Amino acid sequence: MNRKYRKTVIAANWKMNKTPSETKAFLTEFKNKLPRSRWCDIVFCVPAIDISAAVRAMRETRVAIGAENCNAAASGAYTGEISTGMIVDAGCKYVIIGHSERRAMGETDAEVNAKVLAALGAGLHPILCVGESLEQREMGVTEEWIAMQLKAALQGVTEDQMKKIVIAYEPIWAIGTGKTATPEQAEEVCCAIRTMIRKRYSAKIGRAVTIQYGGSMNEKNAFELLAQPDIDGGLIGGASLDTDKFLAIINAANQPTA
Ligand code: PGA
Repeated sequence: MNRKYRKTVIAANWKMNKTPSETKAFLTEFKNKLPRSRWCDIVFCVPAIDISAAVRAMRETRVAIGAENCNAAASGAYTGEISTGMIVDAGCKYVIIGHSERRAMGETDAEVNAKVLAALGAGLHPILCVGESLEQREMGVTEEWIAMQLKAALQGVTEDQMKKIVIAYEPIWAIGTGKTATPEQAEEVCCAIRTMIRKRYSAKIGRAVTIQYGGSMNEKNAFELLAQPDIDGGLIGGASLDTDKFLAIINAANQPTA
């Protein structure tokens, strides 16, 4: 982390967990446990059906709510989909885009790019996910792969718009597996991502972009991961489903930085 230049963002990705009533109960408990001191930015990305309950529960707090996906179209015949306009109107500030679980369901780089542009157009902060498979890591093509994913996802994104994007580096082999990247492995890729952004935009944008790590981040490994200079937060699945574990990660994000 480096609080001088950029925001630290700890984001929960609930995936397909918790009903609206469970959301209300969880977030009420979370709110009561959240100390009054100043915290990093906190976001709960929740299933679409839980958004209203989450927004209501977190009203009058600094905690933001996000969606886990969106459709790039403004409206129309897309049964089961939700638009960025709906997400904003429901009270969200963020939306996860390009999560590897959605890419595995067939989401293409072109779709990811269209969603990023739609989210920016609606005033949302996209949390843009990138990451390599185990096979790609073993072949030594991690950075090339991520450079390609970023280049495709950021097509047409202006320097001004880039200020709203959070990038989440999530190695696929570390998601939900309990296998975390070592702090060194995670830092190496997050640092490479920052260099890519700097080259594509400017030194200022490279320095200001928030880059999260995601993949089995938990209350035990968060402190060391977040101590890395280019890891500015986390996208947390499993450990975000437990108030104490998630609060411990938020606490780790409060450590002193350079
Ligand atoms: P995990 O999920 O923390 O359960 O590994 C992270 C994610 O998929 O965003």
